[in-house]
Amino acid sequence: MASSMLSAAPAMDVHNAQIVCKDVSHWFLKSDGTPIQVLDRVSISLEPHSFTSLLGPSGCGKTTLLRVIDGLIRPAVGTVIVGGEAVTGPSANRAMVFQEHNLLPWKTAQENIRFGCKLVGIPASESLRRANEAIALMGLNGFEHHLPSQLSGGMKQRVGIARALSIHPQFLLMDEPFGALDAQTREVLQIELLKIWEADRKTVVFVTHSLDEAILLSDRIVIMGTRPGHIKAVIDVDLPRPRSDDMRADPVWTNLRRHLWQLLKPEMIEVAG
Ligand SMILES: Nc1ncnc2c1ncn2[C@@H]1O[C@H](COP(=O)(O)OP(=O)(O)O)[C@@H](O)[C@H]1O
Ligand SMILES: [Mg+2]
Repeated sequence: MASSMLSAAPAMDVHNAQIVCKDVSHWFLKSDGTPIQVLDRVSISLEPHSFTSLLGPSGCGKTTLLRVIDGLIRPAVGTVIVGGEAVTGPSANRAMVFQEHNLLPWKTAQENIRFGCKLVGIPASESLRRANEAIALMGLNGFEHHLPSQLSGGMKQRVGIARALSIHPQFLLMDEPFGALDAQTREVLQIELLKIWEADRKTVVFVTHSLDEAILLSDRIVIMGTRPGHIKAVIDVDLPRPRSDDMRADPVWTNLRRHLWQLLKPEMIEVAG
């Protein structure tokens, strides 16, 4: 196995990175009012147009970190710089895709997508054009006037992704977007996301619990440990692009998978114990 594949993070190149978190720590208040630390000196530096997955046990702070990058949470300590600017709140430059699609149940697929555009100030005529573009891209033609209740889980998630893409963000933050889907739907959407990403390479941070999903999609995998959440390892995925499912049998893939599991297993045991 190429040693570079399993190397630790290269030295942080803060100047060329598009997403930089520097010594980010954060605490939440428990119900009894006592603080609990959820992020501990998290420093990451993600290159422009790169695809990074975050892997780690439940509760290790993946969602919190994503929300910090999105500007939905101001970290108690540390700085976050995205696209060269300090993050002080949400921006139209960044879009989130959630595990639960978060669609408005009374709006159709197209209306949900246009609503996302409206929230960031895109005028109605333009939002219609963008919604239709995203509907076509996500294979939703024929479903644009369906309500979420009339769509399968996979279709709802397609709408969630279309809504994010329609604002033309530079940064896509995806929080277990396929976590609630059945295995086959998940594989179909992984391949579609891969194609879409390889065509226009947004800078993506993607949270997942699936080792194979992370390997298939990512340039780099960040492993988080828990109590409190911290960066345990950063690993390059040394597989060529375009990627495909057929690479699963490649020794690079199987060795990387084994290595990822070795890193994650003690964290999972800690959470379970
Ligand atoms: N708003 C909040 N208030 C208090 N505690 C929170 C809040 N959001 C998350 N937490 C806690 O912070 C920790 C990290 O949560 P989260 O970022 O959602 O982890 P992950 O996404 O890795 O499962 C968990 O222990 C969770 O219960
Ligand atoms: Mg989460």
